[in-house]
Amino acid sequence: MKTIDTKSYKTFKDGYYNNFGGRFVPPILENKLQKLMETFQFLKSDKGFLTEYYYYLKHFVGRPSPLFLANNLSKYVGSKIYLKREDLNHTGAHKINNTIGQILLAKHMNAKEIIAETGAGQHGVATATAAALFGIRCKIFMGRKDAERQAMNVRRIKLLGAELITTERGTATLKDAVDVALEYYIENPDSFYLLGSQVGPDPYPQMVGFFQKIIGVEAREQILQTENRLPDSIFACVGGGSNAIGLFHEFLDDINVEIHGAEGGGLGNIPKKTAATLSFGKPAVFQGTYSYCLLDEQGNPTDTHSIAAGLDYPGISPQHAFLKESGRAKYHCITDNEALEAFALLSKLEGIIPAIESAHAIALACKILKDKNSISIINLSGRGDKDVDREMALE
Ligand SMILES: Cc1ncc(COP(=O)(O)O)c(C=O)c1O
Repeated sequence: MKTIDTKSYKTFKDGYYNNFGGRFVPPILENKLQKLMETFQFLKSDKGFLTEYYYYLKHFVGRPSPLFLANNLSKYVGSKIYLKREDLNHTGAHKINNTIGQILLAKHMNAKEIIAETGAGQHGVATATAAALFGIRCKIFMGRKDAERQAMNVRRIKLLGAELITTERGTATLKDAVDVALEYYIENPDSFYLLGSQVGPDPYPQMVGFFQKIIGVEAREQILQTENRLPDSIFACVGGGSNAIGLFHEFLDDINVEIHGAEGGGLGNIPKKTAATLSFGKPAVFQGTYSYCLLDEQGNPTDTHSIAAGLDYPGISPQHAFLKESGRAKYHCITDNEALEAFALLSKLEGIIPAIESAHAIALACKILKDKNSISIINLSGRGDKDVDREMALE
């Protein structure tokens, strides 16, 4: 194991965050990903590309997203809490930040077809939206169980003109959708795989991290303007890790800022009934990258459970694996019931219905910040319209 570089927690080298990451793929994808990596390396500092990316973030997505002082929640918890309002982005979640970046890359590479996986459906909607905007053919892969529990997003994906392909494989959730999308990609290497979280082989974790870091760049500037100082702590939910790294990245080297991730804990520490990968998993190669993974006794990726389709995944970003092992960030298991309580709480206290994924971050912050009298930011990664029909039954 390499020693941890504590000079900067942002250090990334040759596809690795310390010893996590890499590219574990069949040879047919190796060249394709190498070309993608080289194109991304060139474009990420190309002025024309960045101008176009920021143009769409501003005029199509509606950035910057507000940093909202949640007064009622702050009073309830006994600590000052700001919400970074990614739920106000066009399409209703942070996913669109990454989708706009990757579709511009795809356009640059003359892609004729975009493919993507989706769990909660937010990445599927964001990808179908971007594909419609740029007139590129689009296929979205989704597990049958997720398609049922996120029915509203399925309708949106179809309305936006994308083809939806559901799978019955495994638990019919996000892991299975990624498997089927990867298989399609191997058979159709001319398509562009627009991956929705900070997972998968290099260069996806660095690309997704790059396109999402706008969240933290804005939040840092906004809190400095409002409070004239950095927050004491920041919070985000963690599925594959993209909204969390989006907020965390810009604060990684501010070592006095505590960093907390809320994992989809499901029913708690019970095999196959949780999706809290960093809390209960082990290092392993999974879906093209070396990171943490929830494993069974034979060392195979296990089935997972979380009430939140977007967190219901046995893998995790290699950068979060590094941040956990280095101790820079702390990751916590939040159960379905805790998330449901927070879902109702934020709706009633602030008039904001959060995505059930984001409700995990709210629940964690409420626990950790009780009577702390400090200043914190929670990333509100998405809005909860997609979850209303399901969660109302649980009132
Ligand atoms: C609103 C919302 N938040 C969070 C997530 C989790 O993904 P990530 O960990 O990549 O941010 C999802 C995934 O679909 C989502 O839709």
